[in-house]
Amino acid sequence: MKFFIDTANLAQIKEAQALGILDGVTTNPSLMAKEGITGKENILQHYLDICKIVEGDVSAEVVATDFEGMVREGEELSKLHAQIVVKVPMIKEGIKAIKYFFDKGIRTNCTLVFSAGQALLAAKAGATYVSPFIGRLDDISADGLNLIADIRLIYDNYGYETQILAASIRHSMHIINCAKLGADVMTGPLSSIEGLLKHPLTDSGLEKFLEDAKSFNL
Ligand code: E4P
Repeated sequence: MKFFIDTANLAQIKEAQALGILDGVTTNPSLMAKEGITGKENILQHYLDICKIVEGDVSAEVVATDFEGMVREGEELSKLHAQIVVKVPMIKEGIKAIKYFFDKGIRTNCTLVFSAGQALLAAKAGATYVSPFIGRLDDISADGLNLIADIRLIYDNYGYETQILAASIRHSMHIINCAKLGADVMTGPLSSIEGLLKHPLTDSGLEKFLEDAKSFNL
């Protein structure tokens, strides 16, 4: 399972990268705005800064919603750096754009996916990644994990190569359950990744080992 961090915060990306287990980064307009990045040049530079920190894929989202606008923005983003994956919203024009990018060899991440039907369309259009937002489904009392299972089944039925990128991860159990269901990638906050480290028996076990090691007089 690939681990992506879902942030535009450079310090957190560096921290996750230092763990040695980071495979990529996803961003979206809200995450970029949260970092206070404004203006086209600054935004493009920020993507480049992220690409310098990590070795894997970096999703950069288009903000146009018409086909021509998405193509224009996506082509510019993809030329910026080989690691950039163009993030395209799951709308009618977005599907057309994903197919266009697929034909041009430009990699895409189809975002804002909330149903199996949307995921099927994204795969048919040739998306590199599909991003089902499981946390936002859970937020409205729907079952985010069930969507991951449905997409896995459908993609396996037909051998679609689109990778399932479980997004809107809220906590460590989301990651574990997505791994059990066969999601190819998860993207979440640093806290959800670091949460995987935690177990009280590890803490108490280590405390005892260190206590007993005092007799070694090292
Ligand atoms: C995915 O690529 C999105 O950036 C993200 O996972 C959305 O998560 P949120 O629901 O926590 O905003």
